[in-house]
Amino acid sequence: MTALNRVQVHKAVFLMLVVLVQGDTQVGCVFGGSCVLPCRFQPNSDTILHWNKIFKTDRKKLEVHSYYDDQDQLGYQDPLYKGRTSLFHDQISGGNASLRLARVNLQDQGRYLCYASTSLNSQEAFVTLTVRAPMQSAPGSEVLLPCDASGLDDITWTFNHHQTILRRQAGQEVVVETEWQQHVRDLSESGSLLLYVTSSAQSEGTYRCTLRYADGEDVTHIELKILEDPVEEGSSSTGIIIGVGIALLLIASFIAIIFLYFRKEKVKPQLTPSFTTCLLHFFIFSRVSSG
Ligand SMILES: *[C@@H]1O[C@H](CO)[C@@H](O)[C@H](O)[C@H]1NC(C)=O
Repeated sequence: MTALNRVQVHKAVFLMLVVLVQGDTQVGCVFGGSCVLPCRFQPNSDTILHWNKIFKTDRKKLEVHSYYDDQDQLGYQDPLYKGRTSLFHDQISGGNASLRLARVNLQDQGRYLCYASTSLNSQEAFVTLTVRAPMQSAPGSEVLLPCDASGLDDITWTFNHHQTILRRQAGQEVVVETEWQQHVRDLSESGSLLLYVTSSAQSEGTYRCTLRYADGEDVTHIELKILEDPVEEGSSSTGIIIGVGIALLLIASFIAIIFLYFRKEKVKPQLTPSFTTCLLHFFIFSRVSSG
């Protein structure tokens, strides 16, 4: 084996490892926003693109977006995706099959398959989409943390990664942990949690809704931010603005005094102005500036 051959073998092994390790591309999207599911293919003629959502549980596929004969083909598109998908048409000839998904909701979470076929070959890539839902609330109010269990029974809500809030299992009562009983108001049929917010110290953090299937799980993350007493916050920031204003005024006056002081000195260099003269300038100046 020549040195060159060895290098090539090493390169091939390395590439294989990269492919094996890579797995699904992970994409995080913000609830209600739009995001891009990336996919690249080796471009050639007769491009056919299919984006499907795939399910572990029942091996079902949802048609998300298709493209062939140089145009979008949405006849079989699932109604869930109607009007929310688009491809970057001007980039397809360059091997970009990325899908833009608008108005992202919790049901969009999951695994997507990008299938690209040309006259040369066909390629597949997987993208896993997770949805982050940032939310705000105030102490003394209720907030609905969304989760989409869509017919699944096994739900767990947790707080800041380790604390269990509640659990619901098939054919059983909902079990709420003792320290959360005064916070939990309701668990809807779909799995959304109605929470009573006490203070930011107690309620602010990450809430997770975990749905368990026979062979996997789906997690929804919700960042809950608690806005404490907005009135006080407003007045303290006004105070800061006034304070900064006064400080700036003082600095400006000081610079002006020094400036005046040296100008006077140039006109009458024989006079050495005393500290009192300087103070007098300060008073005159501040009278002028305030009047
Ligand atoms: C595909 O094209 C879009 C639009 O120019 C770009 O934002 C995106 O990053 C591209 N994706 C890939 C995987 O090349």
